[in-house]
Amino acid sequence: MPPAPVRIAPSLLAADFSRLGEEVRAITAAGADWLHLDIMDGHFVPNISFGPLLVEKLRKHCPLPFDVHLMISPVDSYLEAFAKAGADLISLHPEAGPHLHRSLQTIRALGKKAGVVLNPATPISAVENVLDLTDLILVMSVNPGFGGQSFIDSQLTKIASLRRMIDASGRDIALQVDGGVTATTAPRCIAAGADVLVAGTAVFGAADYAAAISVLRG
Ligand code: DX5
Ligand code: ZN
Repeated sequence: MPPAPVRIAPSLLAADFSRLGEEVRAITAAGADWLHLDIMDGHFVPNISFGPLLVEKLRKHCPLPFDVHLMISPVDSYLEAFAKAGADLISLHPEAGPHLHRSLQTIRALGKKAGVVLNPATPISAVENVLDLTDLILVMSVNPGFGGQSFIDSQLTKIASLRRMIDASGRDIALQVDGGVTATTAPRCIAAGADVLVAGTAVFGAADYAAAISVLRG
């Protein structure tokens, strides 16, 4: 079977926050596949971004799937709010709550797709026993909290290992990479087996969003 086309999920964190409506319309017109929304609480990660109210407001301006990356702890009490705000996919870190399996069940019960995010130091075994509840695995190729950081090369081996794990499972699970994805690192992620790339700076920092997306897609 030919590999699935690579999908690009621009991260809103790198957009111009003074005109977010325009930014999401522009990124949609530029051919983005998903919109990646980074939710940071100043506790699980050392930065604060935005919450469900903003997600809900942006929903009206953007028809793309909303890929919500939760960097908040404890996470469980916020799952419903992001589901109601219009998330299509909700991803969380195993370290952000006491019972990953239960959190994934909650997301599925809310009618949303569920993702598991692996920090650079988190082993792939963290997701191994919950593949039946997982629609996406996100490999963090930077430590979460900030845009514009450098890609951590050691994560390429992890991406390749996860590709083998997913293929062996026979399940329909997307393999996403987030952090430091650029024209240089994107082909390496794709070669290792990733099929969804998150990019903040490399897209919103470019003069031509459509050109930047097409370069990353390879
Ligand atoms: C980091 C976030 C990323 C970030 C990526 O914690 O999860 O989504 O916005 O930004 P770049 O692409 O600039 O590394
Ligand atoms: Zn993210």
